[in-house]
Amino acid sequence: MTVDQTPAVPGPRLPLGLSAADPELVKSVSIALADVEKILRGVADSDVSFIDEAALHLVNAGGKRFRPIFTLLASHIADGALPEVVTASAAVELVHLATLYHDDVMDEATMRRGAVSVNARWDNTIAILTGDFLFAHASGLVADLGTDAARIIAETFGELVTGQMRETVGPAPGEDPVDHYLSVIGQKTGSLIATAGRYGGMFSNATPEQTEALYLYGKIIGAAFQISDDIIDIASPADESGKIPGTDLREGVKTLPMLFALQLGGPEADRLATLLDGPITDDAEVEEALALLRSSKGMDRSRETLEQYAERAHAALSPLPDCAARDALELLTRYVIERSR
Ligand code: IPE
Ligand code: IPE
Ligand code: MG
Ligand code: MG
Repeated sequence: MTVDQTPAVPGPRLPLGLSAADPELVKSVSIALADVEKILRGVADSDVSFIDEAALHLVNAGGKRFRPIFTLLASHIADGALPEVVTASAAVELVHLATLYHDDVMDEATMRRGAVSVNARWDNTIAILTGDFLFAHASGLVADLGTDAARIIAETFGELVTGQMRETVGPAPGEDPVDHYLSVIGQKTGSLIATAGRYGGMFSNATPEQTEALYLYGKIIGAAFQISDDIIDIASPADESGKIPGTDLREGVKTLPMLFALQLGGPEADRLATLLDGPITDDAEVEEALALLRSSKGMDRSRETLEQYAERAHAALSPLPDCAARDALELLTRYVIERSR
């Protein structure tokens, strides 16, 4: 008699293209991620129920959990998701979440994670203070991980804010706009994703070389993640991205596809240059600019740049042992590159 070993209930699944990863790894990461979720929901510990409501608003709205999943995966290069890895993973997501509350104020965004943004649901003051509250909570978690972890998150946050500031200010006179953009995204987005990888190594007894490789890999895919996000802001409808397309245009932020479209010229480049000269407030002009950008060479060129980042990410993984977690990181790279297709 043959026994059917197909499980009646499918095993745990992970997003981010990781369903093809080693089943044991997926299972371990899923179990640890459930613990991370509990910690995230623990932000609702205030005496003031309104703070809890505002803090939980985006926790509950979902999001991809890219950074905590990366920390957990990275830990499996060594001893796996030990309790300190789980704490670090949650802390990184909370820092990320706090930056989203602040970013939506700066970008005047009205939608986030498929929900109304906090600044739009309440107002800027509530969004800023709740972002600060989430930072405070993250700092408390990191404090339990020791002074090295605290120093690292402090430096990371300084770098992230520097990137946000440099994006706001724009390139210095004579600075190449593409160089400026690539350096800004390394700071505003790559920095925290690099720390997510570093924490995964640090708290799972990885060697210093492995931890450094996870940091470097994170920095590279973090920048690529932002390039994909900037392509999505042009290419994808709101029901896919959970955000309103054209937010960068409305804010007058020139992202990579726009910079390349302007550089490469083509029949519509003059009109695009006029439109992109500053923040666009008129809805019809946003639509016009989006249509021009979607068919521009800037999109293809940005995707080529993404492939270069994928090669660099692959090279960054080379110091790591050949194992299921490393294979999963290769899948993660593909997800980062292909999510904007
Ligand atoms: C949004 O990050 C901000 C960027 C750095 C692009 P995510 O795309 O990871 O947002 P969530 O967490 O899934 O909502
Ligand atoms: C967000 O950048 C980066 C940080 C929050 C540090 P964006 O402004 O491009 O991200 P989205 O598109 O609003 O998520
Ligand atoms: Mg922004
Ligand atoms: Mg934004």
